[in-house]
Amino acid sequence: MKKLVVLSGSGISAESGIRTFRDMGGLWEEFDVMEVASPRAWEMNRSLVLRFYNERRKALASVHPNAAHTGLAALEKEFDVQIITQNVDDLHERAGSSKILHLHGELKKARCTVNEEEVCDIEGWELKEGDLSSGGYQLRPHIVWFGEPVTAIEEAIPLVNRADILLVIGTSLNVYPAAGLINYKRHDVPVYVIDPGEPQGIRSMKVTFINKKATEGIVDFIRMVKTNDLS
Ligand code: APR
Repeated sequence: MKKLVVLSGSGISAESGIRTFRDMGGLWEEFDVMEVASPRAWEMNRSLVLRFYNERRKALASVHPNAAHTGLAALEKEFDVQIITQNVDDLHERAGSSKILHLHGELKKARCTVNEEEVCDIEGWELKEGDLSSGGYQLRPHIVWFGEPVTAIEEAIPLVNRADILLVIGTSLNVYPAAGLINYKRHDVPVYVIDPGEPQGIRSMKVTFINKKATEGIVDFIRMVKTNDLS
């Protein structure tokens, strides 16, 4: 089976009702990223950070995967599909995708503030002061904050390099190292981009640009990729 690697961002979840970051009305219009998503924020105002992620986790319980998520899951019948997502929601999982790498963490998980290898599921939607790891230390959101290393990038790079087809969907390609993954594809590998806007630097790339929302663009993509790459 041909390897289809998908680099997704918040835009794929927009039509499920989850806010993006840099669009009009995006999260970073309302919150100062350094006050809710950085190690210093955790040191200075732990309750605000916990509240920011608790509210997003609570909202996640009332949204559902959309046709873009389910379309990608269905492609597993014809392709070896590897999702590499910048999203911390679980919509790819709930849509049925089986191979998902979260570059920036997972909203529904927590990790020990001392032993970062210790990761656990959050029961319900609230992570509170006093929720402790097995070692007795405060649990924190299992999210990669600004200024922290994206350790999963080391696993993502070889996955992109082995791709036969690369799909970029719903990301502004503003944030590195995730945005740099596209440079690790082999030179002859076709790149498709689905986005109603114009991701960073896309004009300088040789791509098939489907300038549509995820749920509409996925239909075009599936038709194209089945015609071009299954024949
Ligand atoms: N369908 C597809 N794409 C969409 C849709 C939609 N319905 N709506 C918006 N988009 C596109 C926007 O045009 C934009 O290109 O999704 C992208 C969203 O970009 P950002 O808000 O920058 O989100 P993202 O690229 O995922 O951000 C990357 O930045 O703040 C950090 O950790 C955070 O993982 C996040 C990272």
